[in-house]
Amino acid sequence: MQNRVYIFDTTLRDGEQSPGVSLNMNEKLQIARQLARLGVDIIEAGFPITSPGDFAAVQAVAREVKGVTVAGLARANFKDIDRAWEALLDAEQARIHVFIATSDIHLKYKLRKDREQVLAAAVEAVKYAKKYTSDVEFSAEDASRSDVDYLCRVFGEVIKAGATVINVPDTVGYTTPEEYARFIQTIMEKTPGMEKAVLSVHCHDDLGMAVANSLAAVGAGARQVEGTINGIGERAGNAALEEVVMGLYTRKDRYGLTTGFNTREIFRTSRLISSLTGMPVHPNKAVVGKNAFAHESGIHQDGVLKERTTYEIMNPELVGITAGNLVLGKHSGRHAFRNRLTELGYELNDEELNLAFGRFKALADKKKEITDHDLQALVEDEIRHV
Ligand code: KIV
Ligand code: ZN
Repeated sequence: MQNRVYIFDTTLRDGEQSPGVSLNMNEKLQIARQLARLGVDIIEAGFPITSPGDFAAVQAVAREVKGVTVAGLARANFKDIDRAWEALLDAEQARIHVFIATSDIHLKYKLRKDREQVLAAAVEAVKYAKKYTSDVEFSAEDASRSDVDYLCRVFGEVIKAGATVINVPDTVGYTTPEEYARFIQTIMEKTPGMEKAVLSVHCHDDLGMAVANSLAAVGAGARQVEGTINGIGERAGNAALEEVVMGLYTRKDRYGLTTGFNTREIFRTSRLISSLTGMPVHPNKAVVGKNAFAHESGIHQDGVLKERTTYEIMNPELVGITAGNLVLGKHSGRHAFRNRLTELGYELNDEELNLAFGRFKALADKKKEITDHDLQALVEDEIRHV
């Protein structure tokens, strides 16, 4: 079994399904470029059939963002797949991502199809997508609540039809780490031809277990993890990729696995996405929250000053928080100020920038050296109020 885990980012598709979030094409492109710098393996840029705007965004990402696979989502029907391919065809490496639900509850109430009909639709769709590209992912929506024997049958047939990635979504965030790990193991053992495909997981966070479930699945053999930056997404969101990756990195003694992430781009990516989506990052959020590396109690501060690792399991610089850097002083101008904020991932509108610049000048009068950490606190405490 290989020791590389592929990271599939769906911030622009499932992430954009967060209530109240709507990104325009330029914002999506900006995020996609940053995701490529971050080192994700696959960017799911959208669901092209859903709207002309989504189609255009997937097309723009496919045309302009290189060095990464670009995926477009399609239901298991020819029209969706045609539209997805039309949007993707200029990508350096394109993936068509086909999905259909497999749980009895979805079959009965949503699709109004029986198991044989769903199986036939899945196989037909994968064969059809395969005419366009060799890279076809199949997702069984609500997989974690599906009958495992039926699921393995569907997976075996779609692999025969040409699917190269098999995704096992926990669509409603219902599973638990031990249960999901066993489920993944069973799928690996019982699906004919599974060794020919990459097994992928896609977890939602309704019970707060999306990251734990993803890591448990990786421990059981999954080699692609899907999620979003800052964990944004439908309802309670998706697995936060920065947490998954830092979990694998920090506990490589436990997992022995690597990713292609450039972890030093994590903080900037988090703040860019927060700025553009308008979704603040909770101060206590693991890895990227503004308190994630703050030590408040005297005992902790004393320990960290003596030896960082007493209370820090990750070096903040590893995730791109350069707290010690001298960046600006009281003579710095507005232009340098704006540039540094942009480098840190903050996109402020003119009004916010004016306010922030005024606060910065006041701070610079009191404090000679203004660090990245000061700028982060200034924006998040005084401008964004998170
Ligand atoms: O949660 C889900 O099941 C999905 C699929 C479309 C992969 O987002
Ligand atoms: Zn999802």
